[in-house]
Amino acid sequence: MSDLLARHENIIAPVIAFDTEVIAERAEGLWVTDVNGNRWADFACGTAVTNLGHNHPAVVSAAHDQLDRVMHSGCIFRYDSVVEAAERLAKITPPGIEKFGFANSGAEAVEAAVKLARYHTKRQGVITFRGAFHGRTMGSVSYTTSNAKYRDGYHPVLGSTFVVPFPHPYRWGVSEQEAVERSLHELRLLFKHVVTPENIGAMLIEPVQGEGGYYPAPAAFLEELRAICDEHGIMLVFDEVQTGFGRTAEWFAADHFSVDPDVIAIGKGIANGLPLSAYGASREVIDGWPVGAHGTTFGGNPVSCAAAVAVMDTMGDLLPHARQLSKQAFDRFEELAQRHPTIGDVRGLGLMIGVELVSDREQRTPDKAAFKHVQKYCFDRELIIIECGPDGNIIRFIPPLITTSEELDWAIDLIDAGLTDWEATR
Ligand SMILES: Cc1ncc(COP(=O)(O)O)c(C=O)c1O
Repeated sequence: MSDLLARHENIIAPVIAFDTEVIAERAEGLWVTDVNGNRWADFACGTAVTNLGHNHPAVVSAAHDQLDRVMHSGCIFRYDSVVEAAERLAKITPPGIEKFGFANSGAEAVEAAVKLARYHTKRQGVITFRGAFHGRTMGSVSYTTSNAKYRDGYHPVLGSTFVVPFPHPYRWGVSEQEAVERSLHELRLLFKHVVTPENIGAMLIEPVQGEGGYYPAPAAFLEELRAICDEHGIMLVFDEVQTGFGRTAEWFAADHFSVDPDVIAIGKGIANGLPLSAYGASREVIDGWPVGAHGTTFGGNPVSCAAAVAVMDTMGDLLPHARQLSKQAFDRFEELAQRHPTIGDVRGLGLMIGVELVSDREQRTPDKAAFKHVQKYCFDRELIIIECGPDGNIIRFIPPLITTSEELDWAIDLIDAGLTDWEATR
């Protein structure tokens, strides 16, 4: 074990999981270089954050400029980068999202979004969807059901949180329409037997379930949830922490649907690697949240906000390229699925693609060992990929938006070869 790994193990809480043992020396664009000069293309994007690639020059430069001027306010004085970041957000977020607050992490943004909805509706109940990942703070982990292990040791979690199954057609072995009907049926049963809609302030959903397995919400499902929320005065909250900032080849996943949320939570790619997150809603809703009902010391840090402005100035031009990459990737993975019996399903939205690996296609048996094999095969050939899903068997394919068409082919060729290698051992 290298000296730094040993020191790391000795002093850093082991509860934080790492996907590789790489000790990074520098990172630029697709590539992370370690202390020994080895390099890897980071198709994990620092867990869906560096959508513009590592250390994007425009982002670094904006952050440097801000760092030299003002690096912290702590809500003592105002500064320009936070206003500019919010003004730009207002231009790209879904219709009806008009005013913003900032925080540091996705979990904080989700908690703020739910607090806002609860405050506004004066109702405390929250509906979440099975398979969701909303974070690990005590509130957000109460909404997280992508894997039971995240709540192990913390029960009871926050009360009045009700979990409805998210439609998982592939895993349930049913059509999309059938899955939607099943989920809506469960929601109706919840209202009938467990809690009346008049007690629910927020319905919290990822428009594409991320950590839970890269399941896009069927359009019909979101449309029906919107109608139910409107009927009962419930606020529809989109967690776009992972789906936002170009990950689905649009600014937000909501752009793929005819449904707009009442409240949005965003994070991850917003500042391409500096800690920042945000929540937004209509002017009326946010202006009804009085001074002191929520707050933060570091949220909306000047340097992170300057980086976010640079991200928003840069990313728009890349979205058409991201759409092309998405089509290329889906075409290639669907072709791979014809040849590799290990691929059970290919799904996702934009550049948020899940490739589910199974040991038995008919039974859809999750194959974590296959994922581990392909992951190592790729890692040994300079490509980092990570997984998602409660069974650890889904390739979470999230290339940076700056990836060229050739680089995308190279990465998919490696996955193809890794699968061939795995299947040869079976
Ligand atoms: C959809 C979603 N919401 C919330 C979070 C929590 O974000 P953070 O880890 O920044 O608290 C994540 C993180 O993976 C996420 O994917």
